[in-house]
Amino acid sequence: MSSTVSLQQLKVELELLEEEAEQDIAKAVDEDSLEKLRVNLLGKKGRLSTVLGAMGQLPSSDRPLVGQRANVLKNQLQGLISQRLQLLKQKALADLVAKETIDVTVPSIGTPVGKRHPLIQTSEEIVDLFCGLGYGVAEGPEVENDHYNFTALNIPENHPARDMQDTFYLGENLLLRTHTSPVQIRYLEHNPPPVRVVAPGRVYRRDTVDSTHSPVFHQVEVLAIDEGLDFSHLRGTVMAFLKAFFGDLPVRFRASYFPFTEPSAEVDVQWRGRWLEVMGCGMVDPAVLEGLGLDPDRWSGFAAGLGVERFCMVRHGIDDIRRLYTSDLRFLDQF
Ligand code: DAH
Repeated sequence: MSSTVSLQQLKVELELLEEEAEQDIAKAVDEDSLEKLRVNLLGKKGRLSTVLGAMGQLPSSDRPLVGQRANVLKNQLQGLISQRLQLLKQKALADLVAKETIDVTVPSIGTPVGKRHPLIQTSEEIVDLFCGLGYGVAEGPEVENDHYNFTALNIPENHPARDMQDTFYLGENLLLRTHTSPVQIRYLEHNPPPVRVVAPGRVYRRDTVDSTHSPVFHQVEVLAIDEGLDFSHLRGTVMAFLKAFFGDLPVRFRASYFPFTEPSAEVDVQWRGRWLEVMGCGMVDPAVLEGLGLDPDRWSGFAAGLGVERFCMVRHGIDDIRRLYTSDLRFLDQF
């Protein structure tokens, strides 16, 4: 602005400023550029200040006119800027909301949920049914020693019954347990009768795999020791359990032999027109009780060993035991 500034010039300058400022404010796209614009227009070194500075060169009679006009313009621009600011804030919020909106109708990709293996389900169901009859639950190690797996169960060294359980030995004295019966001994060592207990678990035998054999399988051991227990208690318990598990399938007891029970029996259920063995059982042999320091004239009891795979296969109509070990999810997903 030259030193010979005129009233007319300043008026034009203010009009120009007004026109441009209004357009620029309306075009500001975000808060940052609006703020820059505000400083540019109304700041200490802004365009309006420049006009006011030049006003000093006017004759004093002209100054109020320009001053008044500049003040009105200042208020007007401040108003426009704060309106625009309001609008930009609303727009920013709306954009954010639009960007972060979740479409709850989009189908989910699903989270795969694991479930218990059918063998574990079956084992748990068996254990549950016995718990309903007042039994507790016990466990024992899968690596056993000769004493618990055989000797304490009345199976002395060189007894032919050891051959029936072709065995994985881990050394002189250690082996993978061939049945859950050793838990009977371990439990009675620490729990004086009366006892009622079931022991589920994995057992091992040197068997060749086919549709009904596996070198690893599962049993649930049952043990009840009390005063005055006899075979009718065994039979009543087994019948009540089988009815609860299978419903009304026909059941038969067959005389059998186990070194740790006398008398012994095997229990079959009739399924698909034939008899299927599902457990061995019997009255605990007095020799086993004596070995534990229990008086067989006072204490008696019964025991049973259930094959979990059999129960599972009958329950679900599974024709090949290998299906239970191959971890094929197309199969396992059905249970
Ligand atoms: N331990 C036997 C086996 O694995 C099954 C068995 C039979 C368990 C009779 C028992 C029993 O408790 O009384 O072949």
